[in-house]
Amino acid sequence: MDAIQIEGGPRLEGEIRVSGSKNASLPILAASLLTSGSSTFHNVPALNDIRTMCRLLELLGAEAELPAPAPKGSRRKADPHIVKLTTKAIKDTTAPYELVKTMRASVLVLGPLVARHGQARVSLPGGCAIGARPIDQHLKGLEAMGAKIVLEHGYVTAKAKRLRGARLVCDIPTVTGTENLMMAAALAKGHSTIENAAREPEVEELARVLNKMGARVRGAGTSVIDVDGVDELHPIEHAIIPDRIEAGTFMVAAALTRGNVLVRDCLPEHLDAVIAKLRSAGATVTAESGGIRVKGPTTILPVDITTQPFPGFPTDMQAQFMVLATRAKGQSVITENIFENRYMHVQELARMGADIMIEGRTAIIRGVPRLTGAPVMATDLRASASLILAGLVAEGRTEVLRVYHLDRGYERIEKKLRPLGARIKRVKGRM
Ligand code: EPU
Repeated sequence: MDAIQIEGGPRLEGEIRVSGSKNASLPILAASLLTSGSSTFHNVPALNDIRTMCRLLELLGAEAELPAPAPKGSRRKADPHIVKLTTKAIKDTTAPYELVKTMRASVLVLGPLVARHGQARVSLPGGCAIGARPIDQHLKGLEAMGAKIVLEHGYVTAKAKRLRGARLVCDIPTVTGTENLMMAAALAKGHSTIENAAREPEVEELARVLNKMGARVRGAGTSVIDVDGVDELHPIEHAIIPDRIEAGTFMVAAALTRGNVLVRDCLPEHLDAVIAKLRSAGATVTAESGGIRVKGPTTILPVDITTQPFPGFPTDMQAQFMVLATRAKGQSVITENIFENRYMHVQELARMGADIMIEGRTAIIRGVPRLTGAPVMATDLRASASLILAGLVAEGRTEVLRVYHLDRGYERIEKKLRPLGARIKRVKGRM
């Protein structure tokens, strides 16, 4: 298994490009099940989660195509960020445990399958490294649209001849739940309203895609989404928005190393909460044509953070900011409100010399003068990213093991960070 090796110390300087959004791509690829024909998506990040979603769609009967490799000797390189999906006939409606257990977002085929094919059987995802993560809101919404839901043998089966529009009130805003219901409502008969909907930019992006396909969705990006169901949707060509969490991770890397980095191809309006907290930590953040420039402060100031649904501070940036807080002059308090078990990085950071105390959902971080490199490993994606960040400023060598978590969400992070001056490489064959 690969590991990432980092020699800490250098300030990061230069420019870095952000890839397409993983969490926007996943529902959009699933949405291709709502159409019959070939859709082409650009700026899809080349990540393991994307390959898992394509494998799942293939099991269901879609053809997934990456661009043909360039002819031998040709200078033209195939773009690995284009995915073409052809969904003529659905031959299976089951998302099996083997795939769902490796990627919870597999649940995103539930809404499209019931809406277009009248039936879906999806393995229940169960708990994961960051918390219990139930899907009751997805099921409650589908039931309100007339689906018959049965839970047995670890699977949920949803059946409906044709879903009908309904008032869907979510008890809590859920990102993939809102996405599933929006896709289901797009082909339901009549009008649906999703209340207390998630407002994340990825939900808005999915609505844009559905509307391009011929759906009638209004209000995405606010907490009330209206959908007028249509009889059919058509395939499209679309370029995916940039990944705000990858962008945020690079911005923290710049601040933490007291560097000066232009993070290219990101959308500042998706990063307001992150930018505000970077500024509180003393960083200088400015919008420039083509991206956001972050200059790290000489002294990092403590920051208090509470994770919230968008537009609040994202849970997916909590672990990265915790690393920043370990190097601050003073005490920071972080409260994790979205997932109950998202502090898996704390024990590993402690092994690198961090001073962090956890009390329930709250972490109290006292800044320390130095972190020291160590072999570390994490059991989820954003925790792994935080360990890479810690490695960038730790004295000596850090080896981040089990990088398959990292590879689910960051496209070759070592290749992107190296040109900025980071001493980082991938090594093969570590446990
Ligand atoms: N929840 C329920 N019932 C439900 C659905 C959610 O109780 O039916 C709870 C969850 O347990 C959690 C909260 O509601 O406490 C919010 O969860 P949400 O459903 O919004 O999370 P998700 O849709 O499963 C997406 C992202 C996550 C990101 C969260 C929160 C995708 C594919 N995943 O997950 O991304 O952390 O929203 O913003 O979009 C990541 O990229 O590393 C990642 C984990």
